[in-house]
Amino acid sequence: MNLAKIFKNYKTRPIIIASCFFLSILVVIIGILSVKNPTTTNISIGSGDKKLNIVVVSDIHYGTTGCIVDMNDLVDDLNSKNADVIFFLGDTIDKYASSESSKGRPYLDYNVFASYMKDIKSTYGIYDISGNHEFETNSLSAVNSFFRHVEELAPNFHYLDNEAVVVGDAIRLVGRRDYYFGGKSNTRESIESILRKSNLYDSNLDLIVLDHQPQDFKDSLNQNAILQLSGHTHNGQIFPGDIIISLYHKIRYGCVSYGLYQEGNFNLFVTRGYGAWGFPLRTSGSSEILVIDYRY
Ligand SMILES: [Fe+2]
Repeated sequence: MNLAKIFKNYKTRPIIIASCFFLSILVVIIGILSVKNPTTTNISIGSGDKKLNIVVVSDIHYGTTGCIVDMNDLVDDLNSKNADVIFFLGDTIDKYASSESSKGRPYLDYNVFASYMKDIKSTYGIYDISGNHEFETNSLSAVNSFFRHVEELAPNFHYLDNEAVVVGDAIRLVGRRDYYFGGKSNTRESIESILRKSNLYDSNLDLIVLDHQPQDFKDSLNQNAILQLSGHTHNGQIFPGDIIISLYHKIRYGCVSYGLYQEGNFNLFVTRGYGAWGFPLRTSGSSEILVIDYRY
């Protein structure tokens, strides 16, 4: 078959052009619907008689595509899961977080963000960490100030910045400062240091680590964590980004860019995320809510 000949044919050329046009429109429509209609992924971690229903979303990107990912939908989606505890894995906000950051341009209102957080129901609350996008337009103090204000207004919301807590007498939870800022500024503490300063290093409770980017998963593995949860990759967001990012993570870091990676008792799950970056379009899997049936 000579493709050049077919394209040059005056009868077939309009059909080919029209087909490409409609195919492009179809891909855009499917891509937008994939952002607007998150799917739920269920996994089971741990063993034991007691159970924790953990619900995870990452990469909400509130402020940019967050304007399109309706926060009312996020509240409804999370409330439908009857969570014991909810984790946000960073890139939660993605715009100026204060007047100091924005220098006269519009910036995010923590009162508005907190009003959504207050409506999210769970037994032990929401635990949030930073991602690279928090720091791309903000200083550390602007990001921390935004989330500390949210904590004051929404008592169910907790921001972990190089911090560790016990959740429900069930798990030790470490929230790491994102690599993008913390790595460059050498202010990303080790998991051991975070646990020691919280007097949780010698505890027998299972350890779960929240770290926006997956590549430092060996830090969690070496601390005998049972689980690290990460986002950031969006699974490439748009084909063939999924193939490229998968190869990159496998070759550069030896880990997955989406899904479950297991090594002994250690588990790493990288979620595709709830929002989208740059534009509200996904063709490498829809937006995702991760539900973990956690046994301990
Ligand atoms: Fe990210």
